[in-house]
Amino acid sequence: MKLGPIEIDHPFLLAPMAGITNSPFRRLMREYGSSVVISELVSANGIEYASQRTLDLLKFVEAERPVGLQIFGEEEENLVRACQVVERLGADFVDLNMGCPVPKVVKKGAGAAMCRNPLELSKILSAMVKSVKIPVTIKIRTGWEASARNANEIVKVASDAGVAWVAIHGRTRAQGYSGDADWDFIGDVKAKSPLPIIGNGDVVTPEQAVSRYKTYGVDAVMIGRGALRNPFLFEQSADLLAGRQVIPVTAERILALLEKQRGYLSESFDPRGAMLHARKFLAWYSSGYPGAAEFRKNVFHLPDEQSLWEEAHRFFSISIKKRDFGYLSEPFLMGGHG
Ligand SMILES: Cc1cc2nc3c(=O)[nH]c(=O)nc-3n(C[C@H](O)[C@H](O)[C@H](O)COP(=O)(O)O)c2cc1C
Repeated sequence: MKLGPIEIDHPFLLAPMAGITNSPFRRLMREYGSSVVISELVSANGIEYASQRTLDLLKFVEAERPVGLQIFGEEEENLVRACQVVERLGADFVDLNMGCPVPKVVKKGAGAAMCRNPLELSKILSAMVKSVKIPVTIKIRTGWEASARNANEIVKVASDAGVAWVAIHGRTRAQGYSGDADWDFIGDVKAKSPLPIIGNGDVVTPEQAVSRYKTYGVDAVMIGRGALRNPFLFEQSADLLAGRQVIPVTAERILALLEKQRGYLSESFDPRGAMLHARKFLAWYSSGYPGAAEFRKNVFHLPDEQSLWEEAHRFFSISIKKRDFGYLSEPFLMGGHG
C-alpha cells in the first residue's frame, strides 16, 4: 500500500517525539513494525551551520528507511534551506512541525502557531515544496483553540502547495495534552481531504489502532506514547488488521528486543548517554508488570550499564506473565512538542 508517494507495508507508524525518536529507537521500531519513522523536531534556524548536537539529531541509518526528518521554524528562508539540508542528507521526506504547543516555539510563530495565518503558511509551504524533490509533509493539531479548529482549511492550503500528507494530532494547541484526542474531528477532516491523512492521538492497544483506521477512514494511524509502554504495538496492530494471530509478548521476545536496543544505543551514544536512554525506556516498558515501581527505582540507581541490563533481564524474565493493563488508563507523558 502507499502513503502518499511512499510505499508502506501497513498503516501504523511511530509518532515523532523529542528526546525519544532518535536514530537507535527509530531503527528498533522499524524492525518491530513501524511502517515509517520520523525524527524529533530540529530547528530550521541555522541548520546550515548546525552545532554537533543538531547534526546528531539529523543522523539516521539505512535500516530506518523510509525515514523523515522533522524541522520547525517560522521564516520561509530558513525553512527552505532546512528542507534542502534534509534532502542533501538523503532522508526520504521532510516533515514540518506545525503542532508544537510549547510557548517558546509558538511565541515566535513556529509550531502550532503556523495554523493561525493560512495565507502566510501557503507561501511558506509552496516555497518549501518547490525547493526540494523529496516529499514535504506536515504534522498539525486540530487548530489553535476550540473556537478556531481550522484543520480543514490547513489541509486545503497544504494540498494546493503540493504537500504529500498531513498528520493530525486530535487536540488543539490550547488543550496541550489534556482531554481526549478528537477522532470524530479527524475523521471529518479526512472525509473532505484531497490529501492522505494520518490520524494521531491516544492509541494504546492494537484493537484501538485497527478500529481507528477502519472507523475513521484515515490513511494511517500514528502512535506515540503507546509504543513506549508497548513496543510491540505496531506489529500487533498490523497482525490484527491482516487477520493474523497477534503474537503475545513473552519474556523471550522482550529480552530479544532489549538486547537489540542495548546494541543500537551503544552504537549511537557514549556509555553515559546510552545509560540515560536505557533507563528511560526500561522504566516505560515496565508499566503494569508486578514490581514495576521497585524496578524503576533500581533502574535509576544502578551505577553501571552491565548491572542495569542484568536487572532488566531479571525483571522481565520473572514479571512478564502478569501484566495489569490498568496502566493504559493512567495519564502518561502529558507534554511534548506536537
Ligand atoms: C515527550 C514527547 C515529545 C514529543 N515531541 C514531538 C516532536 O518532536 N514533534 C512532533 O511533531 N510531535 C511531538 N510530540 C507529539 C507526538 O508526536 C504525538 O502527536 C502526541 O504524543 C499524541 O500522540 P500519542 O497519544 O500517540 O502519544 C511529542 C510528544 C511527547 C509525549
